[in-house]
Amino acid sequence: MIRPTVELIGVGKRFGGTAALDGVDLALTPGITGLLGPNGAGKTTLLRILATVLAADEGVVRLLDHDLATPQDRTAVRRRLGYLPQELGFPRGFSAFRFVDYMAVLKEWGSAPARHAEVRRVLEQVDLATLATKRISTLSGGQRRRVALAQALLGAPDLLVLDEPTTGLDPEQRVALRRVLAETARAATLVLATHQTEDVAALCDRVIVLSGGHVQFDGRVAQLVAAATGRVWLADAPDPAAQASWRTGSGRYRNVGKAAPSAAEVVDPTLEDAYLLLRGATTSDSIEVPA
Ligand SMILES: Nc1ncnc2c1ncn2[C@@H]1O[C@H](COP(=O)(O)OP(=O)(O)OP(=O)(O)O)[C@@H](O)[C@H]1O
Ligand SMILES: [Mg+2]
Repeated sequence: MIRPTVELIGVGKRFGGTAALDGVDLALTPGITGLLGPNGAGKTTLLRILATVLAADEGVVRLLDHDLATPQDRTAVRRRLGYLPQELGFPRGFSAFRFVDYMAVLKEWGSAPARHAEVRRVLEQVDLATLATKRISTLSGGQRRRVALAQALLGAPDLLVLDEPTTGLDPEQRVALRRVLAETARAATLVLATHQTEDVAALCDRVIVLSGGHVQFDGRVAQLVAAATGRVWLADAPDPAAQASWRTGSGRYRNVGKAAPSAAEVVDPTLEDAYLLLRGATTSDSIEVPA
């Protein structure tokens, strides 16, 4: 059994009267874990705790064999961590190169030649080499997002925490990023929050679904998808028995629900279908997840 690189035991975090996280237990190993969940589920709160910018109110957080309770251990983790916040502001007037170099200085990269080579490497990874000297304020939204991503990749971190990394990226850039992340995950632990189920399906072995600060599902992507088998069907009209139905480009309706009616045209579920079914499941109507 591989020792977990990320371990959370009974982690809770409150903001006033809101329990953003409540009794979260997790154990992650190297590879990519996707974090799904509706707005306000607690994804960003969890990632901020993993990135050591927020302290849990209760529970134990162990990252890379360090317990976050002590300042020395937090510093040790930060040296091996990359973090892409959900929203990242840039200093006014900075170019992509200058900003990522500034982040490299903060990350204690020493001499300029080695540091600059590393900055060029990460800008290359996010396909920004040719735009490196342009002011960030003149870049497009997706290009700015890639500048933010580049700083997270500095120093090939052992733990990479990414909050909605593909938001605003065009399809080619999303695929290119998947390549970079899959390569990085050979040796590192990656946790990424997203609303894009197709990114999770394409990249992640493991998926965690958060809901109201609780872990609603934690397992393999294939397990969650398999649990939706026989529960997705096409029809010429929305099925009143379905939990959700929508018109597809072909003009037919895709229905997801407790069980497809007999004689229905059943189709293979996607992770999005499975996620919707999980979201709609109440405790008495929960999805059976095969082991
Ligand atoms: N700094 C804060 N102060 C007060 N409440 C907060 C703060 N940060 C988060 N919360 C609350 O904690 C809960 C979880 O928020 P969080 O940002 O972790 O959700 P999320 O899953 O990342 O959502 P989204 O998909 O919209 O990014 C929400 O109810 C939110 O209002
Ligand atoms: Mg968030």
